[in-house]
Amino acid sequence: MTGPHPAPAAVVTGLGTCLPESVVTNDDLSRHLDTDHDWIHSRTGIERRRRAAPGTGTGDLAAAAGAAALKSAGRDDCDLVLLATTTPDRRCPATAPTVASRLGLRAAAFDLSAVCSGFVYGLTAAAAMITAGTCERALVIGADVYSSIVDPTDRGTAVVFGDGAGAVVLERGRRDDAGALLHAELGSDGTGADLITIPPGADHLTMRGREVYTRAVTTMTASARSVAEAAGWSTDDINAFVGHQANQRILASVAKRLGLPPERVVSNIADVGNTAAASIPLALADAAAAGQVRAGDRLVLTAFGGGLTWGSAAVVWSDTEPVCETRA
Ligand code: UT7
Repeated sequence: MTGPHPAPAAVVTGLGTCLPESVVTNDDLSRHLDTDHDWIHSRTGIERRRRAAPGTGTGDLAAAAGAAALKSAGRDDCDLVLLATTTPDRRCPATAPTVASRLGLRAAAFDLSAVCSGFVYGLTAAAAMITAGTCERALVIGADVYSSIVDPTDRGTAVVFGDGAGAVVLERGRRDDAGALLHAELGSDGTGADLITIPPGADHLTMRGREVYTRAVTTMTASARSVAEAAGWSTDDINAFVGHQANQRILASVAKRLGLPPERVVSNIADVGNTAAASIPLALADAAAAGQVRAGDRLVLTAFGGGLTWGSAAVVWSDTEPVCETRA
């Protein structure tokens, strides 16, 4: 955007995460499942994942990540709490109002259900509410405890998913501010609803992994390309691609199709696995803490998951320092 008065935009001013303390390695899993470290690592890139302690729910991780994000932003209040999750603490009411209360907030609060794309959907919705003037400052949280819905005897999913939460603070600013969300796009294809689902009447998640894999690669590539173009960026302009951490091979394929070198691909899947709605903020926090993502960098965040849903956001990073917590 050019001109003396850049248009209003939602701006990221804080980033926080919370991971459960308990680490489950591939070797731990192979003691109970017909699998092994080499298969898991070579097919997914995952080495370990975190698992919430019994009694720890999505709201616990979400509240801790939310508090961490507010601390990172140097703020103690906001007027919107948006929680993206597939594993709410209860079917009714939503978990977000309880998270808001635990943070001492009487903010507008609601849950959003878009499975692994939930964080990008949440970011987009909160940004729209901010630029429309509905709220000033939002806490967007992606939190999931997939250990509560994964069948521990299903090696196709039990090795893939981990628990965690990540959050950002978004506030009203201008398009030329560091942290500005410049463009976002979302999509869905409900004909793929059965590919990742908890079937009616069942308790556990099922995933047709190979079919999801193929669609993830093509859809994430198209979505990332389209949001970069809308932001006016060529591939060379993208400093870092922060994709949903579902599979290292998916990230590598998307990067190759986009023409991005491996060092511009953010990845923490080895340490946390697929944490669903928490995946992108957790990856972003690790990259920011490691200096892989720096102030002024042009980031493309791209998610894909159940629904099927997908989405991308083009963000110029700020000097935001992530605050990372752990809890049981
Ligand atoms: O987060 C939302 C989006 N999700 C995704 O994007 C996930 C996308 N899908 C994937 O990441 C991969 O499909 C998986 C990691 C889930 C599975 O990897 P794959 O390379 O697609 O394996 P596959 O399901 O095609 O299975 C290949 C073989 C099968 O054996 P046969 O039929 O060839 O004898 C499976 O039974 O590997 C077997 N297998 C395993 N072997 C050892 C499947 N899971 C395991 C396992 N350990 N954990």
